[in-house]
Amino acid sequence: MEHPGENNELKLWEDAGFPEQVQDPKLMRLLMKGANNVLDVMLDYKQLMFAESSAMKIIRTKLEILDTEFKMTHNRDPIHSIQTRLKSQASILQKMSRRGIEPTTENMERYISDIAGVRVICGYMDDIYTVEKLLIEHEDIELLERKDYILSPKPSGYRSLHLIVQVPVFLPGGVRKTKVEVQLRTIAMDFWASLEHEIRYKKDLDNKALLKRLETCAEVIARTDEEMQAIRVQMEAQENPTKEMEQILEKLRRFDVPLG
Ligand code: GTP
Ligand code: MG
Repeated sequence: MEHPGENNELKLWEDAGFPEQVQDPKLMRLLMKGANNVLDVMLDYKQLMFAESSAMKIIRTKLEILDTEFKMTHNRDPIHSIQTRLKSQASILQKMSRRGIEPTTENMERYISDIAGVRVICGYMDDIYTVEKLLIEHEDIELLERKDYILSPKPSGYRSLHLIVQVPVFLPGGVRKTKVEVQLRTIAMDFWASLEHEIRYKKDLDNKALLKRLETCAEVIARTDEEMQAIRVQMEAQENPTKEMEQILEKLRRFDVPLG
C-alpha cells in the first residue's frame, strides 16, 4: 500500500543524498523511526543537563549572596572562592557502568547525584558549617544527604563536608527538582585534595609508605586549620569596638562591601 506523502518523502531523502539502495520506503520509515527515537533520547538528556546546569547556577548565586550578606554584618567573608563543574558524559556513563545501572536519562537523574557539582572553598573550618547552615536555611533547598569527612576523614586523609541538596528549577516544561553536590572545604583542605588527586591520578599508587606520608600531610594540615581558626577567634575577642571612632570605621567598612 502506498503511503500518502511517500513521494515527497522519497524526494526529501533523494535530495539529502541517500544512495538509491536505501530509498526503499519501508527501510526509510524504519530509519526515520530510529532517528526520531535517538533524537528523543538526546533531547531528554539535553533537558536534564540544562536543568543540572541551571541548578548549579542557582546554588552558586545563593552562595554568593549569602557571602556578601555575611560580609555586610561581620566584615569578613566566609567564602574564599567557588568552583562549579558539570560531570562529563563519559564520567556519568563510567559511574553508571561501575554501579551496574542501566544508562538511561531517567536513571541518570535518579541515581547520579553529582552531575552538577559546586565546590566551596572557605577560609576557616567554622566557615564551612556557617555556610552550610545559611544555605540549608533557604526554604527552597532540601538537604538529601550529608557526609562529614571533616569529623570522620576518609582513610586517605581526605577532609571536606559533602552535601547533596535539591533545588527547584523553573523551566518552560514545569518545575524540575534537581540535585546538586556541594563540597565544602578550607583552602588548606583544598590544597591537599587537589595535589593528592593529581598525584594519585597520574600513578596508581599502592605504595603504603607514600600513602601514609600523604595521610600525615593531611593531619598536619588539619592541625594548622585548627590553629589558624583559634588565632582568628582570639584576635576577634581582643577587638574593642566600644570606642565611637572604631564603631564608625566598622560601619563604613560594612558600607564599602562591594555588591558584585
Ligand atoms: P563517588 O562514586 O566518587 O561519587 O563516591 P561517593 O558517592 O561515595 O562520594 P564521596 O562522598 O566519596 O565523594 C566523591 C568525591 O569526593 C570525589 O569525586 C572527589 O571529588 C572527592 N574525594 C573523595 N575521596 C577523596 C580522596 O581520597 N582524595 C581526593 N583528592 N578527593 C576525594
Ligand atoms: Mg558522590
